Amino acid sequence: MATGENNIMRDKQGLEDGTIGSGDLSSNAIFSGLSGDFWKKIIHRESINSTNEYALSLSLRGPESGTVIIAESQARGRGRMGRVWVSPPGSNIYMSAVLKPEIAVRDAAFLTVAAALACAHALRSEAGLNVTIKWPNDLMVCGKKIGGILTEIRSAHDEINFAVIGIGINVNSLSKDFPAELADRATSIKEVTGRHFSRSRIIAQVLNELERWYKKLTGDGSFPLLEEWKRLSCTIGKVVRVTLFSEVISGIAEDVDEEGMLVLRLASGERRRISSGDLTELRQNGFFSQ
Ligand code: BTN
Repeated sequence: MATGENNIMRDKQGLEDGTIGSGDLSSNAIFSGLSGDFWKKIIHRESINSTNEYALSLSLRGPESGTVIIAESQARGRGRMGRVWVSPPGSNIYMSAVLKPEIAVRDAAFLTVAAALACAHALRSEAGLNVTIKWPNDLMVCGKKIGGILTEIRSAHDEINFAVIGIGINVNSLSKDFPAELADRATSIKEVTGRHFSRSRIIAQVLNELERWYKKLTGDGSFPLLEEWKRLSCTIGKVVRVTLFSEVISGIAEDVDEEGMLVLRLASGERRRISSGDLTELRQNGFFSQ
């Protein structure tokens, strides 16, 4: 598959193809599915260590907001909490979007929220999936993870210079493509629906939705995103265990506050606000012991 770099003019009649694309993933197909001119450039790579790493290195040389990196496979895909994001070739979405948001560093978590809402809405409209969001921003279908988001920012003096929003969505891979330890926790669109999907169409829809939620965040603030996040949440009200860097705590996930922190009520009645961690659902509701 030929891949390359394509900075396509925003004339929908005369899309230039350059060297990119074949199969179900091409920058031209993505551009023709976009609803506006917010996204400027798509860089398509066959194999890459990580689209986030690539975007960050590009950005050091002068980022253009609205640049998107997509790859057929990643050798060292980055997941949350220093984990590896398993990235088999030719079947899934590995993408990173570069943005230069004029928001405070303390609100950067809402970029990930915007991306989670974008993915959930895109997968609902493109594949009819009932996607929910597990705190902080795992995309879930039928209790299994179908996608994840890793946002990395570069900032100075409480200003974000640029943000790289990395999105991984399992589209056409099957459980046999995942390592055994992931097979019972991960799923894909194909696994759930039995159908093969065009990655270009899904990426275009994710980008349209990301534009929408990003503009809402920068225009109206984080409140509408938080409301929608809670509506799509599969975490609130559940008894959960959260693994932090140095401790494991459990309690009822009562809320997510205005800073995007999980509010956990412990058995002692104490409320803890948690900014990041690994969450496991223990059972639906009721009492629990620590
Ligand atoms: C998670 O652990 O849930 C976040 C996973 C994020 C994976 C995506 S794949 C595209 C982008 N590039 C990376 O190296 N990671 C993100």
